Amino acid sequence: MRTYLVTGGAGFIGSNYIHYMFRKYGDEIRIINADALTYAGNLENLRDIEGRENYTFIKADITDQPAIEKIFAENDIDRVVHFAAESHVDRSIKDPSVFVRTNVLGTAVMLNCAKAAWENPDGSFKEGKKFLHVSTDEVYGSLPDDGTSFFREDTPYDPHSPYSASKAGSDLLVKSYMDTYHFPANITNTSNNYGPFQFPEKLIPLMINNALSGKPLPVYGDGRNIRDWLYVDDHAKGIDMVQEQGRLFQTYNIGGHNEKRNIEIVELIIDTLLAELPDDDPRKKNVSRDLITYVGDRKGHDRRYAIAPDKIRAEIGWEPETPFAEGIKKTIRWYLNNEEWLANVTSGNYQKYYEDMYSNR
Ligand code: NAD
Ligand code: DAU
Repeated sequence: MRTYLVTGGAGFIGSNYIHYMFRKYGDEIRIINADALTYAGNLENLRDIEGRENYTFIKADITDQPAIEKIFAENDIDRVVHFAAESHVDRSIKDPSVFVRTNVLGTAVMLNCAKAAWENPDGSFKEGKKFLHVSTDEVYGSLPDDGTSFFREDTPYDPHSPYSASKAGSDLLVKSYMDTYHFPANITNTSNNYGPFQFPEKLIPLMINNALSGKPLPVYGDGRNIRDWLYVDDHAKGIDMVQEQGRLFQTYNIGGHNEKRNIEIVELIIDTLLAELPDDDPRKKNVSRDLITYVGDRKGHDRRYAIAPDKIRAEIGWEPETPFAEGIKKTIRWYLNNEEWLANVTSGNYQKYYEDMYSNR
């Protein structure tokens, strides 16, 4: 039975990945989820698998080397899937230090601990051990708005925000371990994910949450920035396929030629909410295009992200499977049916965050 150490498994993509893996492999695998439970980590995302015998949650900070060493000492880990990170660009602009600490130092700790646990006395690595570092397409910087160029695995790194710079630093550390020690790893660089359990600081859940409560929908700048949207389950599947079928020491970009301007997304959310909400639902009267409010732009706002997933398709046969029209409907329905989840994560500290982040725009 393969044992996985998943970091950041209580966050958005990590929790969807854990669900995906249990759906796919059932009792054939064991998963240990190590997460510090920051504001972005939420064990409610995993409530339905809490009782599984082949699942363990450990509250641990990836910058705490003794805590991570202990996990490796007490378990024979076969796979590391490293999601844990500070992930929100706007927060990184306000307070970069925690991004450097978690994303760079935390990744170094994960690499050191895996290397120490997996290395043979002659410097080779135990058979079959693999580390997958989950990263972002933002490390490649910004593309021109003309739709002709795409991020590929050999696109030079050109990060602009403290978040993407810290992820670029973590990617380079992983590369250095592969180059220096022949450490058995892969890196995936993925485009914008959407789906259930995403914290409502990110564009799609923030707009759904605000629209349902009749709050302004804050669109940065001219609203015409482009992101390449990928349904989170397709990402989870891509990660597993890269780890099991990809060539070690390689980077794979995961994305799906699904470019949308932000304003298109916001309008689609409003139209879908109006179509999905029954007339007698009191939230329906709040939803309107009049809520769209153009606000000050994000500092250093990247114009366009777009991935050409040619390598992962050619070598591994991965393709995005969820059409955007279907994925966004599923996502919106999930938020409509999980009002309590949304209410819980937007109570308390979220209110203060929202006030700080949006009051001066
Ligand atoms: P998230 O913010 O929803 O979740 C991050 C998780 O990491 C949380 O559970 C949090 O508690 C945990 N964490 C944070 N600091 C930690 C620490 N010091 N020790 C242990 N755990 C800690 O993030 P997400 O959107 O799920 O992103 C997961 C990963 O995927 C990140 O590495 C991110 O860079 C990458 N990624 C995200 C996207 C996207 O669109 N969301 C796209 C590409 C890549
Ligand atoms: O590309 C992958 C990246 O996608 C991941 O690495 C990041 O972890 C993830 O957060 C995401 O980064 P973005 O900055 O692209 O996502 P965000 O949802 O914050 O913003 C998407 C776009 O929407 C961006 O152009 C900014 C804009 N936006 C965002 C918010 C929160 C708004 O116009 N208004 C908003 O209130």
